[in-house]
Amino acid sequence: MGQPLILALDQGTTSTRAILFQADGKPVCDASRPLRQSYPRDGWVEHDADEIYAACVGVLRDTVEKCDRDSADIIALGITNQRETVVVWDKATGRPIHPAIVWQDRRTAEVCDRLRDESHEPAVTAATGLLLDPYFSGTKIAWILDKVPGARRRAEAGELLCGTIDSWVIWRLTGKEAHVTDATNASRTLLFDIQAQDWSDEMLALFDVPRALLPAVLDCAADYGRVTPDILGRPLPIRGVAGDQQAALMGQGCIHPGEMKVTYGTGGFMLVNTGETRPHSASRLLTTVAARVGGRTTYALEGSIFVAGAAIQWLNEGLGVTGGPRGAEALARTARGDHGVVVVPAFTGLGAPWWDAEARGAVFGLTRDAGLAEIAQATFDSCVFQGRDLIEAMRADAPSAFEDAALRIDGGMAKSAWFSQRLADLTGLPVHRASYQETTALGAALFAGVGAGVYGSVEDAVKARPEAEVLTPAFDTVTREAAYARWLDALPRVRS
Ligand code: G3P
Repeated sequence: MGQPLILALDQGTTSTRAILFQADGKPVCDASRPLRQSYPRDGWVEHDADEIYAACVGVLRDTVEKCDRDSADIIALGITNQRETVVVWDKATGRPIHPAIVWQDRRTAEVCDRLRDESHEPAVTAATGLLLDPYFSGTKIAWILDKVPGARRRAEAGELLCGTIDSWVIWRLTGKEAHVTDATNASRTLLFDIQAQDWSDEMLALFDVPRALLPAVLDCAADYGRVTPDILGRPLPIRGVAGDQQAALMGQGCIHPGEMKVTYGTGGFMLVNTGETRPHSASRLLTTVAARVGGRTTYALEGSIFVAGAAIQWLNEGLGVTGGPRGAEALARTARGDHGVVVVPAFTGLGAPWWDAEARGAVFGLTRDAGLAEIAQATFDSCVFQGRDLIEAMRADAPSAFEDAALRIDGGMAKSAWFSQRLADLTGLPVHRASYQETTALGAALFAGVGAGVYGSVEDAVKARPEAEVLTPAFDTVTREAAYARWLDALPRVRS
């Protein structure tokens, strides 16, 4: 028998990927498939849940088949997934009764507005750590039950099941045996009491979701059942599950209070570990479960940026900058020093801590000698400043977490060393740039490794992470704060 191998499955919003890792954290091989997006109406986003499952099976098989290792050495599967997206399915036939409603979908905005007008938000935040926003699962589940004929009656009769993507995929992979989820995914549903670590009767009543629909909630490293032998030729234990941002937190080794990561993809997700005490945000950040292992829950503050890499795409597609993201970076690097241009890419409103759905983008500070290069640089900088807004909100909510803080970065934009350095320069924090970008899949593998006993503890598991590159802030305080002040000055001008 060779070194134990751990398979990770990362079911994301736009693609599904499997990666096989050695126990020392080295990736061995991988496979991925894109996922079709469906936009049936303005603001609606759906996925085909059967396609998701088929892609999961496909990438698992492809990864194992293309790898020249003995598949008997694969000892566990870890699963991570796009969070909040929900599926409701028929327990008997296994058929989804409606397409999966994706986290980005806004169809329940009016329900959230009504509940907010009725002053339910404080109770929701107290129980779940979340805000009344259509982003989360609860109102999406109720929407399916209300709109699909007969669904509510069938749910109450115990004929239907529901869950986030992890739950759906595990139920199918285990031959309809295990209806389970993990505490991090549960913490994104609006239905889970993050202090009591159980579904909340109060929230189930508020959102009108029958408890019988919901999965059992397990630790992130636990026994989730076995993948049936027809899929990979032999049964494979599922031993780790976490939502993708929490898996990335683990993959970035953020297991102690104050350790913080940002994933810069199309949007951006920043999480800071706040330890075992549940924080309460005064800055409209989310409080979420960072991990639950061995029955011990750790929490995180989370903020999301709606537009990050999407702003760079806008440079290419909207403003005609050629050469993709690299071309945009090359242009941005030629900008004049101290040009004073500010771009606020509030194309779809502003995320945390502003939560302003009506805000729209703008460019400020144009002078006669400002051109595309200055706009390009200001666009990259807007991704930094949106992150800095979150850092400042987190600092206000959990000041002790910020002694000696550093920011760990991953995701597509982290591939740019220049952008990563800019993040250090303009936040004033050291930036640790992941040398291996698939931190989400790595985190799932590490949780599964803990669940399978490959690692004795979470502390032990994160030692398998590769070293990151450390970037030190180079700007002096005056330059840095003057740039941020220009951003803060621009923001109110785009707010609704
Ligand atoms: O909360 C949504 C997030 O989990 C989606 O992540 O990487 O699939 O876009 P991603």
